[in-house]
Amino acid sequence: MAEFVVDEVYLKEIDKARRELRALISQKNCAPIMLRLAWHDAGTYDVKSKTGGPNGSIRNEEEYSHGANSGLKIAIDLCEDVKAKHPKITYADLYQLAGVVAVEITGGPDISFVPGRKDSNACTEEGRLPDANQGFKHLKDVFYRMGLSDKDIVALSGAHTLGRAHLERSGFDGPWTRDPLKFDNSYFVELLKGEESEGLLKLSTDETLLDVPEFRRYVELYAKDEDTFFRDYAESHKKLSELGFTTP
Ligand code: HEM
Repeated sequence: MAEFVVDEVYLKEIDKARRELRALISQKNCAPIMLRLAWHDAGTYDVKSKTGGPNGSIRNEEEYSHGANSGLKIAIDLCEDVKAKHPKITYADLYQLAGVVAVEITGGPDISFVPGRKDSNACTEEGRLPDANQGFKHLKDVFYRMGLSDKDIVALSGAHTLGRAHLERSGFDGPWTRDPLKFDNSYFVELLKGEESEGLLKLSTDETLLDVPEFRRYVELYAKDEDTFFRDYAESHKKLSELGFTTP
């Protein structure tokens, strides 16, 4: 794709797209799937080979048809409406902006957004995103490969405060919290309740956050102190959204 620069015109387009995303996401109640889209575009990053990451490659069938991305074509298509009105904006920026707006309009923290990501058609091989049936070792393998930390793993897992699993997409079913359209610290509160939090979903990768002290201490902290969760989440989400990205 042609080189692009983040100039005044581009920044204005970003501002307009942000407003449109706010309207679209609240109209369609699609904050959870937009956040999942942003995460799945970014979460393929490999810090060693500097491949994958938030580069818009998930828009290609080769990548969105990976098992882990099941259902995400819905979010890709929703973003297409905004892209059509603001063709200058890269898919990479658009998807990450959608993730930031999804958190913001459901009551979560403000996440600083720096535009300028380039698009790529280089789809990574299947299997870079985490497998929900595994435990803490797998989570570390996958997130350390991205260059992220234990704290990032726990803070970002708190994104499951939003949305739900769909049987026909992942084989899992149900929400993690009682109000899946509100971004708060209830994911951690419910996780600590264990068996008592009846009717709510807990994947192996959620439960394993209680298994080792270097994760558990953050679960306990975030369940007690929402302000700290919001501060750490905003920091980790920004890192995730900028993997492999250097400001042009
Ligand atoms: C949904 C797995 C981390 C955001 C899901 C679903 C699975 C899953 C199986 C259900 C998909 C469906 O059936 O529709 C995992 C695993 C993770 C992880 C194994 C490893 C830690 C994250 C992170 C974020 C995130 C880091 C964001 C920062 C979401 C959201 C949904 C979701 C918002 C709800 C989507 C919807 O309602 O349509 N995740 N996830 N997840 N995930 Fe994760």
